[in-house]
Amino acid sequence: MQSFDQTLPILITGGSGYLASWIVKYLVEAGYYVRTTVRNRQDERKIAHLKRIAAAGPGRLEFYEADLMRHGDFNNPMRGCEIVIHTASPFLIGKIKDPQRQLVDPALEGTKNVLYSAGETPSVKRVVMTSSAVAVYAEAREILDQPSGAFDERNWNLISDLNYDPYGYSKTLAEKEAWIIANQQRQWDLICINPTFLFGPTLSGRGDNVSVSTILQLMNGELRLGAPQLYFGVADVRDAAQAHLLAAFTPEANGRYLICAETMSILDIAAVMRARFDENFKLPKRPLSNWLLYLIGPWVGFSRRFLRGNLGYAPQFDVSRSIEELGLSYHPVEETMVDMVESLR
Ligand SMILES: NC(=O)c1ccc[n+]([C@@H]2O[C@H](COP(=O)([O-])OP(=O)(O)OC[C@H]3O[C@@H](n4cnc5c(N)ncnc54)[C@H](OP(=O)(O)O)[C@@H]3O)[C@@H](O)[C@H]2O)c1
Repeated sequence: MQSFDQTLPILITGGSGYLASWIVKYLVEAGYYVRTTVRNRQDERKIAHLKRIAAAGPGRLEFYEADLMRHGDFNNPMRGCEIVIHTASPFLIGKIKDPQRQLVDPALEGTKNVLYSAGETPSVKRVVMTSSAVAVYAEAREILDQPSGAFDERNWNLISDLNYDPYGYSKTLAEKEAWIIANQQRQWDLICINPTFLFGPTLSGRGDNVSVSTILQLMNGELRLGAPQLYFGVADVRDAAQAHLLAAFTPEANGRYLICAETMSILDIAAVMRARFDENFKLPKRPLSNWLLYLIGPWVGFSRRFLRGNLGYAPQFDVSRSIEELGLSYHPVEETMVDMVESLR
């Protein structure tokens, strides 16, 4: 069982991200000495909000430059840390030109680079890594094969590849590699957090994050004619951030933790938004017919294979480990969506 010195620095990789910014905020607000890596310390658009968080204190925040693809970049920021929280990884969906270069290489090589640095830094005792529910399953239809009716931490994505769902593939490869590296040594232990689709307020206001751009699309009326009947797990970005901290500080924490508050469709999310914001946005009210989607899918970014594996199936998730072992409590999704829309307006 691990015990940690709360005065030592804690490293968060990719602090500028949607999720990582919340982890940084909670740690600084709790008075910790926090270090974060960013790709460019001069890029105010990406880090101004973190500087404001640092200025409000009471904790301390230091920035280090590091790229996932550069071996050794994480050695310096990791020096003296017992806890490393590795969140940095590209999250891209849709039209990707070069999935190997844009997704797989940074996810996989980045994980190796961070974990090799941990191995070269004797102070490191625990690494908490942001994996994803997409490393647990690939297609919602797989839910029919689950004897309990729900996915849990024993499931792995066995389907995605470089051409079919390259993001899911990149997260699965990275998490698998992390467990291989972790099991070859005894200096530090590994805990993986596997969140479903995250929503909730953004601290940076950046629109280039997939969670944020998905809700902006809804708010901008891009789906007003109808929404595909796609279902996914939804969780609050603040709860996912807390899950990382509970995993970091709970000595007995171990293994993987799925994070999900509820399974929802795009129409369910639109209904929650409409209930609070009435007709402010041109939200979809009806499902897009499946035959139409099969017809136009390939031109709007949904392959027929993806539609066959996902349309109309509602994945369920057993998150009892996150509640019972980490003590995580979940925001109701109504609060998540309302707070997100408020932050984007
Ligand atoms: N949002 C979700 O729904 C969700 C759900 C499950 C899991 N996750 C996981 O959560 C983590 C954070 O996702 P997010 O939604 O917060 O995405 P995000 O806002 O796009 O953040 C991604 C972070 O990774 C950094 N990054 C990307 N490529 C990099 C590279 N080559 N070198 C160094 N840093 C690099 C980005 O840096 P820049 O700021 O410089 O771009 C950014 O800080 C990812 O591991 C993602 O897979 C997200």
